Amino acid sequence: MPDDSQAAATYGTYLKIDDLLALQQPRSTGPEHDEILFIIIHQVYELWFKELLHEFDHVVELLEADQSHGSQHTLKRILTILKVMVSQLDILETMTPLEFLSFRERLDAASGFQSDQFRQVEFLLGVKSERTLERFEAGSRARIALERRFRAPTLWDAFLHYLARERYPVPPSALAREATAPLEPVPEIQQILIDVYRRDPKNAELCERLVDLDEGIQEWRYRHVKMVERTIGVKRGTGGSAGAAYLRETVGRPLFPDLWAIRSQF
Ligand code: HEM
Repeated sequence: MPDDSQAAATYGTYLKIDDLLALQQPRSTGPEHDEILFIIIHQVYELWFKELLHEFDHVVELLEADQSHGSQHTLKRILTILKVMVSQLDILETMTPLEFLSFRERLDAASGFQSDQFRQVEFLLGVKSERTLERFEAGSRARIALERRFRAPTLWDAFLHYLARERYPVPPSALAREATAPLEPVPEIQQILIDVYRRDPKNAELCERLVDLDEGIQEWRYRHVKMVERTIGVKRGTGGSAGAAYLRETVGRPLFPDLWAIRSQF
């Protein structure tokens, strides 16, 4: 219901365009031409991360309410956003190493490595680490959000509970799993998933969307590391890591190992 006590919205006031356009503040003198692109791309990513978290929370709620159709619908939206996020890297790849170098030193220690929303997405998907958590200042917005997601069940946990309510014999130990522990392969769950794929098309579709999601995140990691290699080669990252060598280690690690393990068991 529109709130009549408020002034009539315009495009500019509703979307806070003046505030939005004031947020791109280059640090280089000049400023260097490509710094605006670099800032805007990162800000757009942060907005997409915010939207992803909003949609992921909804998927979890829908699974908890046994709404398989709704959760698939929302996962489809997430996957579509993820495709856009991956393809946005093409834009940044039009920036040459020299163009990046023209302002890189002004970034100081700033790096996507410090994106708390990216870590929130990882935590929700089961990639959790106390060390990551502790890098964020105690009491900050980022730390509070991450602490909540660190303790909360992951999307995979919500899926396992959903399968149990669908009368699959999910082992009690998997249902009572420590929410902060990494997701390890579980042979009994693989047997259940094989059964789902053979006899239960509705839930097999849901599994396929989770595989799409897993592959989509890996695709982003792969494209990001290739972009890093072509822009800074093997130099260290501004966030303090070994750079591409560190990032390569994160590529190809599945989120949901059971969904991959069963592919060689059919
Ligand atoms: C020229 C462009 C870019 C370069 C050269 C670059 C470089 C790097 C490097 C070297 C790292 C490793 C951590 C470090 O030591 O800094 C990193 C991590 C990361 N970057 Fe980028 N990056 C670029 C663009 C982006 C963009 C557009 C995003 C979008 C948000 C992004 C998000 C991330 C994230 C989330 C991490 C942490 C990955 C992880 O720990 O698994 N980066 N980046």
